[in-house]
Amino acid sequence: MNILLLGSGGREHALAWKMVKSHHCDKLFIAPGNAGTAEFGTNLDLSVNDFEAIKNTCLEQKINMLVVGPEEPLVKGIYDFFQKDPQLQNIIVVAPSAEAAQLEGSKAFSKKFMQRHNIPTAGYAEFTSENFEEGKKYIAQHSLPIVLKADGLAAGKGVVIVNTHEEAIQVFEEMIIHKQFGEASSKVVIEEFLQGIEVSVFALTDGEVYQIIGHAKDYKRIGEGDTGLNTGGMGCVSPVPFMDTLFMQKVEERIIKPTINGLYKEELSYHGFVFFGLMNVKGEPFVIEYNCRMGDPETEVVMPLLQTDLVALFAAMDNGTLIDANISFDQRSCATVMAVSGGYPGEYRKNLRISGLADWRIDNSDSMVFHAGTKQVDDVVVTNGGRVLAVTSYGNDLGEAVAKSKKVLQKISFEGMYYRSDIGYEFA
Ligand code: AMP
Ligand code: GLY
Repeated sequence: MNILLLGSGGREHALAWKMVKSHHCDKLFIAPGNAGTAEFGTNLDLSVNDFEAIKNTCLEQKINMLVVGPEEPLVKGIYDFFQKDPQLQNIIVVAPSAEAAQLEGSKAFSKKFMQRHNIPTAGYAEFTSENFEEGKKYIAQHSLPIVLKADGLAAGKGVVIVNTHEEAIQVFEEMIIHKQFGEASSKVVIEEFLQGIEVSVFALTDGEVYQIIGHAKDYKRIGEGDTGLNTGGMGCVSPVPFMDTLFMQKVEERIIKPTINGLYKEELSYHGFVFFGLMNVKGEPFVIEYNCRMGDPETEVVMPLLQTDLVALFAAMDNGTLIDANISFDQRSCATVMAVSGGYPGEYRKNLRISGLADWRIDNSDSMVFHAGTKQVDDVVVTNGGRVLAVTSYGNDLGEAVAKSKKVLQKISFEGMYYRSDIGYEFA
Protein backbone atom coordinates (compact mmCIF):
# COMPACT_ATOMS: atom_id res chain seq x y z
CA MET A 1 0.00 0.00 0.00
CA ASN A 2 1.13 3.55 -0.69
CA ILE A 3 0.35 5.80 2.24
CA LEU A 4 0.15 9.58 2.52
CA LEU A 5 0.47 11.01 6.04
CA LEU A 6 -0.51 14.64 6.66
CA GLY A 7 1.28 16.75 9.25
CA SER A 8 4.72 17.88 10.36
CA GLY A 9 5.16 17.31 14.09
CA GLY A 10 6.49 14.74 16.52
CA ARG A 11 3.16 12.96 16.25
CA GLU A 12 3.68 12.46 12.54
CA HIS A 13 7.29 11.36 12.99
CA ALA A 14 6.11 8.73 15.49
CA LEU A 15 3.26 7.62 13.18
CA ALA A 16 5.70 7.36 10.26
CA TRP A 17 8.15 5.35 12.41
CA LYS A 18 5.32 2.99 13.32
CA MET A 19 3.76 2.65 9.87
CA VAL A 20 6.97 1.81 8.00
CA LYS A 21 7.36 -1.22 10.24
CA SER A 22 4.24 -2.70 8.61
CA HIS A 23 4.68 -5.07 5.70
CA HIS A 24 1.49 -3.49 4.29
CA CYS A 25 3.39 -0.22 3.81
CA ASP A 26 5.13 0.02 0.44
CA LYS A 27 5.79 3.70 -0.04
CA LEU A 28 5.25 6.38 2.58
CA PHE A 29 4.81 10.07 1.76
CA ILE A 30 4.57 12.77 4.40
CA ALA A 31 3.14 16.21 3.71
CA PRO A 32 4.75 18.47 4.66
CA GLY A 33 6.78 16.39 7.14
CA ASN A 34 10.02 17.46 8.82
CA ALA A 35 13.69 16.51 8.85
CA GLY A 36 12.88 13.41 10.91
CA THR A 37 10.02 12.04 8.79
CA ALA A 38 12.31 12.21 5.74
CA GLU A 39 14.15 9.19 7.18
CA PHE A 40 11.06 7.04 6.67
CA GLY A 41 9.55 8.34 3.46
CA THR A 42 9.34 11.16 0.99
CA ASN A 43 8.40 14.60 2.29
CA LEU A 44 6.11 16.55 -0.03
CA ASP A 45 5.76 20.29 0.08
CA LEU A 46 1.98 20.43 0.49
CA SER A 47 -0.31 22.24 2.91
CA VAL A 48 -2.48 19.91 5.00
CA ASN A 49 -5.49 22.09 4.17
CA ASP A 50 -5.01 22.23 0.39
CA PHE A 51 -7.39 19.41 -0.53
CA GLU A 52 -7.03 19.87 -4.29
CA ALA A 53 -3.25 19.55 -4.09
CA ILE A 54 -3.64 16.52 -1.82
CA LYS A 55 -6.00 14.98 -4.38
CA ASN A 56 -3.50 15.50 -7.20
CA THR A 57 -0.73 13.94 -5.14
CA CYS A 58 -2.92 10.94 -4.29
CA LEU A 59 -3.59 10.35 -7.97
CA GLU A 60 0.02 10.91 -9.07
CA GLN A 61 1.53 8.70 -6.37
CA LYS A 62 -1.20 6.05 -6.51
CA ILE A 63 -2.00 6.49 -2.83
CA ASN A 64 -4.14 3.77 -1.21
CA MET A 65 -4.41 5.20 2.29
CA LEU A 66 -4.57 8.71 3.74
CA VAL A 67 -3.69 9.21 7.40
CA VAL A 68 -4.41 12.63 8.89
CA GLY A 69 -2.32 13.91 11.82
CA PRO A 70 -3.68 17.34 12.78
CA GLU A 71 -7.25 18.46 13.46
CA GLU A 72 -7.72 21.26 10.96
CA PRO A 73 -8.16 19.18 7.79
CA LEU A 74 -10.46 16.85 9.75
CA VAL A 75 -12.75 19.64 10.87
CA LYS A 76 -12.60 21.16 7.36
CA GLY A 77 -13.97 17.91 5.95
CA ILE A 78 -11.13 16.03 4.26
CA TYR A 79 -13.01 12.75 4.76
CA ASP A 80 -16.11 14.07 2.98
CA PHE A 81 -13.95 15.56 0.21
CA PHE A 82 -12.53 12.10 -0.52
CA GLN A 83 -15.89 10.34 -0.23
CA LYS A 84 -17.59 12.68 -2.69
CA ASP A 85 -14.92 12.37 -5.38
CA PRO A 86 -15.25 9.25 -7.60
CA GLN A 87 -11.48 9.34 -8.28
CA LEU A 88 -10.70 9.21 -4.55
CA GLN A 89 -13.45 6.97 -3.21
CA ASN A 90 -11.30 3.86 -3.08
CA ILE A 91 -8.65 5.42 -0.90
CA ILE A 92 -8.87 4.42 2.76
CA VAL A 93 -9.13 7.66 4.72
CA VAL A 94 -8.31 7.45 8.42
CA ALA A 95 -10.57 10.26 9.61
CA PRO A 96 -14.04 11.12 10.86
CA SER A 97 -16.55 12.94 8.67
CA ALA A 98 -16.69 16.72 9.13
CA GLU A 99 -19.92 16.29 11.08
CA ALA A 100 -18.36 13.79 13.49
CA ALA A 101 -15.19 15.92 13.75
CA GLN A 102 -17.38 18.52 15.45
CA LEU A 103 -16.68 16.49 18.57
CA GLU A 104 -13.35 18.35 18.47
CA GLY A 105 -14.32 21.32 16.29
CA SER A 106 -17.12 22.60 18.52
CA LYS A 107 -17.08 22.42 22.31
CA ALA A 108 -20.85 23.10 22.36
CA PHE A 109 -21.46 20.20 19.94
CA SER A 110 -19.40 17.82 22.07
CA LYS A 111 -21.10 18.93 25.29
CA LYS A 112 -24.56 18.34 23.79
CA PHE A 113 -23.43 14.96 22.45
CA MET A 114 -22.23 13.94 25.92
CA GLN A 115 -25.51 15.10 27.48
CA ARG A 116 -27.55 13.10 24.95
CA HIS A 117 -25.59 9.97 25.77
CA ASN A 118 -25.23 10.47 29.52
CA ILE A 119 -21.45 10.65 29.37
CA PRO A 120 -19.92 12.17 32.53
CA THR A 121 -18.53 15.66 31.95
CA ALA A 122 -18.47 19.03 33.74
CA GLY A 123 -21.78 20.95 33.94
CA TYR A 124 -21.94 23.83 31.45
CA ALA A 125 -23.90 26.50 29.59
CA GLU A 126 -23.22 28.13 26.21
CA PHE A 127 -23.52 31.77 25.20
CA THR A 128 -23.18 34.05 22.16
CA SER A 129 -23.47 37.83 21.69
CA GLU A 130 -27.24 37.34 21.64
CA ASN A 131 -27.46 36.26 25.25
CA PHE A 132 -24.28 37.99 26.45
CA GLU A 133 -26.03 39.76 29.39
CA GLU A 134 -27.54 36.48 30.52
CA GLY A 135 -24.03 35.00 30.34
CA LYS A 136 -22.69 37.67 32.68
CA LYS A 137 -25.41 36.84 35.20
CA TYR A 138 -24.62 33.15 34.83
CA ILE A 139 -20.95 33.85 35.54
CA ALA A 140 -21.73 36.03 38.56
CA GLN A 141 -23.46 33.15 40.37
CA HIS A 142 -21.02 30.44 39.17
CA SER A 143 -18.78 28.55 41.59
CA LEU A 144 -15.01 29.24 41.37
CA PRO A 145 -12.74 28.56 39.53
CA ILE A 146 -14.61 29.07 36.23
CA VAL A 147 -13.60 27.46 32.93
CA LEU A 148 -14.30 29.45 29.74
CA LYS A 149 -13.89 27.77 26.37
CA ALA A 150 -14.04 29.24 22.89
CA ASP A 151 -16.41 26.97 20.99
CA GLY A 152 -14.25 26.46 17.88
CA LEU A 153 -10.67 25.50 17.14
CA ALA A 154 -8.22 27.98 18.63
CA ALA A 155 -4.87 26.21 18.21
CA GLY A 156 -5.03 24.86 21.76
CA LYS A 157 -5.35 28.35 23.27
CA GLY A 158 -9.14 28.62 23.57
CA VAL A 159 -9.50 27.45 27.19
CA VAL A 160 -9.10 29.93 30.04
CA ILE A 161 -9.46 29.07 33.73
CA VAL A 162 -9.97 31.97 36.14
CA ASN A 163 -10.31 32.33 39.90
CA THR A 164 -12.54 35.40 40.19
CA HIS A 165 -15.90 36.42 38.73
CA GLU A 166 -14.44 39.74 37.55
CA GLU A 167 -11.72 38.01 35.53
CA ALA A 168 -14.28 35.58 34.12
CA ILE A 169 -16.45 38.44 32.87
CA GLN A 170 -13.39 40.13 31.33
CA VAL A 171 -12.39 36.95 29.49
CA PHE A 172 -16.00 36.35 28.44
CA GLU A 173 -16.15 39.87 26.98
CA GLU A 174 -12.76 39.45 25.25
CA MET A 175 -13.95 36.24 23.64
CA ILE A 176 -17.46 37.22 22.56
CA ILE A 177 -17.39 40.98 22.02
CA HIS A 178 -13.75 41.48 20.99
CA LYS A 179 -13.57 38.14 19.17
CA GLN A 180 -10.27 37.20 20.80
CA PHE A 181 -10.25 33.92 18.87
CA GLY A 182 -12.17 35.21 15.84
CA GLU A 183 -15.22 33.18 14.86
CA ALA A 184 -14.05 30.40 17.19
CA SER A 185 -15.07 32.48 20.20
CA SER A 186 -18.35 33.86 18.87
CA LYS A 187 -19.82 31.11 21.01
CA VAL A 188 -18.42 30.39 24.48
CA VAL A 189 -18.92 27.39 26.73
CA ILE A 190 -18.75 28.11 30.46
CA GLU A 191 -18.15 25.06 32.58
CA GLU A 192 -17.48 23.80 36.05
CA PHE A 193 -13.92 23.24 37.11
CA LEU A 194 -13.05 19.59 37.68
CA GLN A 195 -10.35 18.95 40.27
CA GLY A 196 -8.30 15.85 39.54
CA ILE A 197 -5.53 14.29 37.46
CA GLU A 198 -5.71 14.34 33.68
CA VAL A 199 -5.11 11.33 31.49
CA SER A 200 -5.76 10.69 27.81
CA VAL A 201 -7.08 7.45 26.35
CA PHE A 202 -6.79 6.63 22.63
CA ALA A 203 -9.05 4.41 20.59
CA LEU A 204 -9.56 3.52 16.97
CA THR A 205 -13.12 3.20 15.74
CA ASP A 206 -14.97 2.40 12.52
CA GLY A 207 -18.02 4.16 13.98
CA GLU A 208 -19.46 0.92 15.30
CA VAL A 209 -16.78 -0.94 17.27
CA TYR A 210 -13.52 0.23 18.82
CA GLN A 211 -10.13 -0.91 20.03
CA ILE A 212 -8.17 0.89 22.74
CA ILE A 213 -4.66 1.50 21.45
CA GLY A 214 -3.10 3.17 24.47
CA HIS A 215 -3.16 5.93 27.03
CA ALA A 216 -0.81 8.60 28.33
CA LYS A 217 -0.47 11.47 30.73
CA ASP A 218 0.97 14.65 29.33
CA TYR A 219 2.65 17.59 31.02
CA LYS A 220 1.22 20.80 29.61
CA ARG A 221 2.89 23.56 31.61
CA ILE A 222 6.23 25.02 30.60
CA GLY A 223 7.72 25.04 34.11
CA GLU A 224 8.85 22.29 36.44
CA GLY A 225 6.25 21.18 38.98
CA ASP A 226 3.48 22.09 36.49
CA THR A 227 3.94 25.84 36.74
CA GLY A 228 3.85 28.68 34.19
CA LEU A 229 2.16 28.94 30.83
CA ASN A 230 0.34 26.20 28.97
CA THR A 231 2.14 24.62 26.03
CA GLY A 232 1.27 22.06 23.39
CA GLY A 233 2.81 19.47 25.73
CA MET A 234 6.26 19.18 27.32
CA GLY A 235 6.40 15.43 27.82
CA CYS A 236 4.35 12.29 28.36
CA VAL A 237 4.44 9.04 30.24
CA SER A 238 2.69 5.71 29.73
CA PRO A 239 1.39 3.53 31.24
CA VAL A 240 0.00 5.74 33.99
CA PRO A 241 0.07 4.00 37.39
CA PHE A 242 -3.54 4.87 38.36
CA MET A 243 -4.93 3.42 35.11
CA ASP A 244 -5.72 0.12 36.79
CA THR A 245 -8.33 -2.42 35.72
CA LEU A 246 -11.09 -0.81 37.80
CA PHE A 247 -10.52 2.70 36.46
CA MET A 248 -10.22 1.44 32.87
CA GLN A 249 -13.48 -0.46 33.29
CA LYS A 250 -15.21 2.75 34.37
CA VAL A 251 -13.71 4.58 31.38
CA GLU A 252 -14.91 1.93 28.96
CA GLU A 253 -18.39 1.47 30.38
CA ARG A 254 -19.23 5.09 31.14
CA ILE A 255 -17.32 6.89 28.40
CA ILE A 256 -15.93 4.87 25.49
CA LYS A 257 -18.90 2.57 24.85
CA PRO A 258 -21.56 5.32 25.10
CA THR A 259 -19.45 7.53 22.81
CA ILE A 260 -19.09 4.88 20.09
CA ASN A 261 -22.74 3.84 20.46
CA GLY A 262 -23.68 7.51 20.21
CA LEU A 263 -21.74 7.89 16.95
CA TYR A 264 -23.46 4.80 15.60
CA LYS A 265 -26.98 5.80 16.65
CA GLU A 266 -26.57 9.30 15.27
CA GLU A 267 -25.10 7.92 12.04
CA LEU A 268 -21.95 9.99 12.41
CA SER A 269 -19.46 8.44 10.00
CA TYR A 270 -16.12 7.85 11.73
CA HIS A 271 -13.06 5.82 10.73
CA GLY A 272 -10.22 7.08 12.83
CA PHE A 273 -8.66 7.93 16.16
CA VAL A 274 -10.66 9.10 19.16
CA PHE A 275 -8.71 10.95 21.82
CA PHE A 276 -10.57 10.97 25.14
CA GLY A 277 -9.17 13.78 27.29
CA LEU A 278 -10.21 12.69 30.78
CA MET A 279 -10.07 13.94 34.35
CA ASN A 280 -9.75 11.38 37.13
CA VAL A 281 -11.79 12.99 39.93
CA LYS A 282 -11.22 10.86 43.04
CA GLY A 283 -11.27 7.67 41.00
CA GLU A 284 -14.22 8.66 38.77
CA PRO A 285 -13.56 9.52 35.10
CA PHE A 286 -15.03 12.63 33.41
CA VAL A 287 -14.54 13.84 29.84
CA ILE A 288 -12.71 17.15 29.54
CA GLU A 289 -12.64 17.05 25.76
CA TYR A 290 -12.73 14.87 22.69
CA ASN A 291 -10.18 15.14 19.91
CA CYS A 292 -10.52 13.34 16.60
CA ARG A 293 -6.80 12.67 16.18
CA MET A 294 -3.84 11.44 18.14
CA GLY A 295 -2.24 13.74 20.70
CA ASP A 296 1.19 15.28 20.45
CA PRO A 297 3.37 14.30 22.36
CA GLU A 298 1.07 11.41 23.46
CA THR A 299 1.67 9.63 20.13
CA GLU A 300 5.39 9.57 20.89
CA VAL A 301 4.75 7.16 23.79
CA VAL A 302 1.57 5.42 22.56
CA MET A 303 3.09 4.24 19.25
CA PRO A 304 6.27 2.80 20.80
CA LEU A 305 4.14 0.78 23.26
CA LEU A 306 1.62 -0.50 20.69
CA GLN A 307 2.87 -3.79 19.27
CA THR A 308 0.03 -4.36 16.80
CA ASP A 309 0.57 -3.43 13.15
CA LEU A 310 -1.00 0.02 12.80
CA VAL A 311 -1.51 -0.11 9.04
CA ALA A 312 -3.29 -3.46 9.43
CA LEU A 313 -5.52 -1.83 12.05
CA PHE A 314 -6.39 0.98 9.64
CA ALA A 315 -7.25 -1.57 6.96
CA ALA A 316 -9.36 -3.53 9.46
CA MET A 317 -11.20 -0.34 10.33
CA ASP A 318 -12.04 0.04 6.68
CA ASN A 319 -13.11 -3.53 5.95
CA GLY A 320 -15.22 -4.18 9.04
CA THR A 321 -12.81 -6.50 10.88
CA LEU A 322 -11.59 -4.10 13.58
CA ILE A 323 -13.46 -6.14 16.19
CA ASP A 324 -11.22 -9.15 15.46
CA ALA A 325 -7.95 -7.26 15.83
CA ASN A 326 -5.49 -8.48 18.41
CA ILE A 327 -4.11 -5.55 20.31
CA SER A 328 -0.93 -6.10 22.28
CA PHE A 329 1.35 -3.79 24.18
CA ASP A 330 5.01 -3.66 25.10
CA GLN A 331 5.12 -4.32 28.83
CA ARG A 332 7.80 -1.74 29.47
CA SER A 333 7.23 1.89 30.50
CA CYS A 334 7.73 4.70 28.07
CA ALA A 335 8.38 8.42 28.48
CA THR A 336 9.00 11.29 26.13
CA VAL A 337 10.67 14.58 27.02
CA MET A 338 10.16 17.56 24.72
CA ALA A 339 13.05 19.90 23.95
CA VAL A 340 11.73 23.37 23.09
CA SER A 341 13.19 26.59 21.77
CA GLY A 342 14.02 29.27 24.38
CA GLY A 343 11.05 31.59 24.98
CA TYR A 344 8.41 29.06 23.95
CA PRO A 345 5.37 29.19 24.39
CA GLY A 346 5.96 32.93 23.94
CA GLU A 347 8.25 34.28 21.22
CA TYR A 348 11.09 32.05 20.16
CA ARG A 349 13.68 31.82 17.41
CA LYS A 350 13.77 29.38 14.51
CA ASN A 351 16.52 28.15 12.19
CA LEU A 352 18.88 27.29 15.06
CA ARG A 353 21.36 24.63 14.16
CA ILE A 354 20.82 21.37 16.08
CA SER A 355 23.91 19.38 16.96
CA GLY A 356 24.31 15.89 18.35
CA LEU A 357 21.61 14.27 16.21
CA ALA A 358 24.01 12.13 14.23
CA ASP A 359 24.83 10.10 17.33
CA TRP A 360 21.31 8.87 17.55
CA ARG A 361 19.76 6.46 15.14
CA ILE A 362 16.04 6.04 15.63
CA ASP A 363 15.01 2.54 16.66
CA ASN A 364 18.44 1.12 17.40
CA SER A 365 18.37 1.37 21.19
CA ASP A 366 15.97 2.09 24.01
CA SER A 367 15.61 5.67 22.83
CA MET A 368 14.12 7.41 19.81
CA VAL A 369 14.45 11.01 18.80
CA PHE A 370 11.21 12.18 17.20
CA HIS A 371 11.41 15.50 15.39
CA ALA A 372 8.63 17.93 16.34
CA GLY A 373 9.74 21.15 14.67
CA THR A 374 12.79 20.73 12.46
CA LYS A 375 13.81 21.13 8.86
CA GLN A 376 16.74 20.11 6.77
CA VAL A 377 18.76 22.91 5.22
CA ASP A 378 21.44 21.42 2.99
CA ASP A 379 23.16 18.91 5.27
CA VAL A 380 22.19 20.65 8.50
CA VAL A 381 19.08 20.12 10.65
CA VAL A 382 17.71 23.36 12.11
CA THR A 383 14.84 24.20 14.45
CA ASN A 384 11.55 25.07 12.79
CA GLY A 385 9.11 25.49 15.68
CA GLY A 386 8.65 26.03 19.40
CA ARG A 387 8.60 22.35 20.18
CA VAL A 388 11.66 20.90 18.47
CA LEU A 389 12.43 17.29 19.51
CA ALA A 390 10.59 14.66 21.51
CA VAL A 391 13.01 12.17 23.00
CA THR A 392 11.27 8.91 23.86
CA SER A 393 12.75 6.05 25.84
CA TYR A 394 11.67 2.68 27.16
CA GLY A 395 12.47 1.73 30.73
CA ASN A 396 11.61 -0.87 33.32
CA ASP A 397 9.72 1.88 35.08
CA LEU A 398 8.81 5.48 34.29
CA GLY A 399 11.77 6.88 36.24
CA GLU A 400 14.22 4.83 34.20
CA ALA A 401 12.54 5.81 30.92
CA VAL A 402 12.70 9.53 31.77
CA ALA A 403 16.32 9.25 32.89
CA LYS A 404 17.29 7.65 29.57
CA SER A 405 15.61 10.41 27.58
CA LYS A 406 17.39 13.06 29.61
CA LYS A 407 20.69 11.32 28.97
CA VAL A 408 20.05 11.51 25.22
CA LEU A 409 19.11 15.17 25.55
CA GLN A 410 22.43 15.91 27.21
CA LYS A 411 24.09 14.97 23.94
CA ILE A 412 21.88 17.15 21.77
CA SER A 413 21.96 20.91 21.71
CA PHE A 414 20.76 24.03 20.00
CA GLU A 415 20.93 27.61 21.22
CA GLY A 416 18.42 28.23 24.00
CA MET A 417 17.28 24.59 24.20
CA TYR A 418 15.05 23.91 27.22
CA TYR A 419 13.29 20.83 28.54
CA ARG A 420 11.50 19.91 31.73
CA SER A 421 13.62 17.60 33.83
CA ASP A 422 10.67 16.51 36.01
CA ILE A 423 8.44 14.63 33.54
CA GLY A 424 6.64 11.86 35.44
CA TYR A 425 7.65 13.41 38.79
CA GLU A 426 4.51 12.38 40.66
CA PHE A 427 5.05 8.73 39.82
CA ALA A 428 8.76 8.58 40.68
P1 AMP B 1 -8.86 21.60 26.26
O1 AMP B 1 -8.41 22.58 25.21
O2 AMP B 1 -10.32 21.31 26.28
O3 AMP B 1 -7.95 20.41 26.30
O4 AMP B 1 -8.53 22.29 27.65
C1 AMP B 1 -7.23 22.65 27.97
C2 AMP B 1 -6.93 22.27 29.39
O5 AMP B 1 -7.74 23.02 30.28
C3 AMP B 1 -7.22 20.84 29.71
O6 AMP B 1 -6.22 19.97 29.33
C4 AMP B 1 -7.35 20.92 31.22
O7 AMP B 1 -6.08 20.98 31.81
C5 AMP B 1 -8.03 22.23 31.41
N1 AMP B 1 -9.47 22.09 31.55
C6 AMP B 1 -10.38 22.12 30.55
N2 AMP B 1 -11.62 21.94 31.04
C7 AMP B 1 -11.50 21.82 32.37
C8 AMP B 1 -12.44 21.62 33.45
N3 AMP B 1 -13.75 21.56 33.25
N4 AMP B 1 -11.94 21.52 34.70
C9 AMP B 1 -10.61 21.61 34.92
N5 AMP B 1 -9.70 21.80 33.97
C10 AMP B 1 -10.12 21.90 32.71
N1 GLY C 1 -1.07 17.07 23.85
C1 GLY C 1 -2.41 17.48 23.70
C2 GLY C 1 -2.95 17.46 22.34
O1 GLY C 1 -2.38 16.91 21.42
O2 GLY C 1 -4.03 18.02 22.16
